[in-house]
Amino acid sequence: MQEIKIERTKTPKAKPADQTRLGFGKIFTDHMYIMEYTEGQGWHDPRIEPYHPIVLEPSAMVFHYAQEMFEGLKAYHTQDGRVLLFRPDKNIQRAENTCRRLCIPPVPQEDFHNALETLISVEKDWIPTQPGTSLYIRPFIIATDASLGVHPSHSYLFIIILSPSGAYYPGGLDPVKIWIEDDYVRAVRGGIGEAKAGGNYAASLKAQMKGEAEGYAQVLWLDGVERKYIEEVGSMNIFFKIAGKVITPKLNGSILPGVTRATCLELCRAWGMEVEERRISVDELVEAAKTGALEECWGSGTAAVISPVGALRYGDTVMDIAGGGIGPVSQKLYDTVTGIQTGRLEDSFGWTVEVK
Ligand code: COI
Repeated sequence: MQEIKIERTKTPKAKPADQTRLGFGKIFTDHMYIMEYTEGQGWHDPRIEPYHPIVLEPSAMVFHYAQEMFEGLKAYHTQDGRVLLFRPDKNIQRAENTCRRLCIPPVPQEDFHNALETLISVEKDWIPTQPGTSLYIRPFIIATDASLGVHPSHSYLFIIILSPSGAYYPGGLDPVKIWIEDDYVRAVRGGIGEAKAGGNYAASLKAQMKGEAEGYAQVLWLDGVERKYIEEVGSMNIFFKIAGKVITPKLNGSILPGVTRATCLELCRAWGMEVEERRISVDELVEAAKTGALEECWGSGTAAVISPVGALRYGDTVMDIAGGGIGPVSQKLYDTVTGIQTGRLEDSFGWTVEVK
């Protein structure tokens, strides 16, 4: 593992005075982590520096061919003053998988761990303490070769920035309305849908604008081939409770393998609920809504945590769910996940990692 050089800022910024108005990903802390990759030398020179703009050639490959990956995780303050990360090993493993898909040299896992823990430890005073807040952690890698040929870059930057954040959706745990998109698609099997790549999110914007114009918070994607099977929402995975069973689309190569998705599955199974990971068609969903079998729907994601869905719209069909309120499983998952993350509940799964 490489030693990280630390240069502390001489001009620390004021911390946000009102933690109820943080928003998501708008404020950044005093320091950032940065490490470089050079072909022949590997990843080198890890350091923590005052947060600053980065200078790149206009020809840097990331700007032209989107060779970029990112991750998202959070650090939490516990009531007894400890700092916890939630399942960082899962993000680090997923980052490695994404890198391999995008021909980016993966950051050695122990350097990734050390980067997270050291940066969080330097910035721990930035972790907000109000309920529903956390320090959002955004690691990312960009291709920096100054070259317009389409091929994997020979140089990269790995950077981690931190943002004290509140709820992803302005309404917090209030149920969101979701638009089921049947025209645009996000990803196809064999593409990069299961990778955490910025390009997937660029591909989602057009439909998100369409949904927003109709008053919907996010888009639920259908598969890119038949446009029939449910995949995921723009910033989260999706779950349904139908006739007592918890159902989520099976990972198929075009769906992001969410850490909170895995957590929901493990919790529901531990609670003895019947859980299915399988293909679910939009027609099955519409039918379940019609007969009253669609009892609950929620999204899961690091940023969104557990986000109850109050209504789904598919064409002209509007499906109201759980009376537009928060269903009991969504609420129990939210309470349990946030309880473990913030140390209020015992972590019998060993999911949290303390940062000293
Ligand atoms: C996360 O949940 O951390 C994500 O990466 C979703 C993001 C696009 C807000």
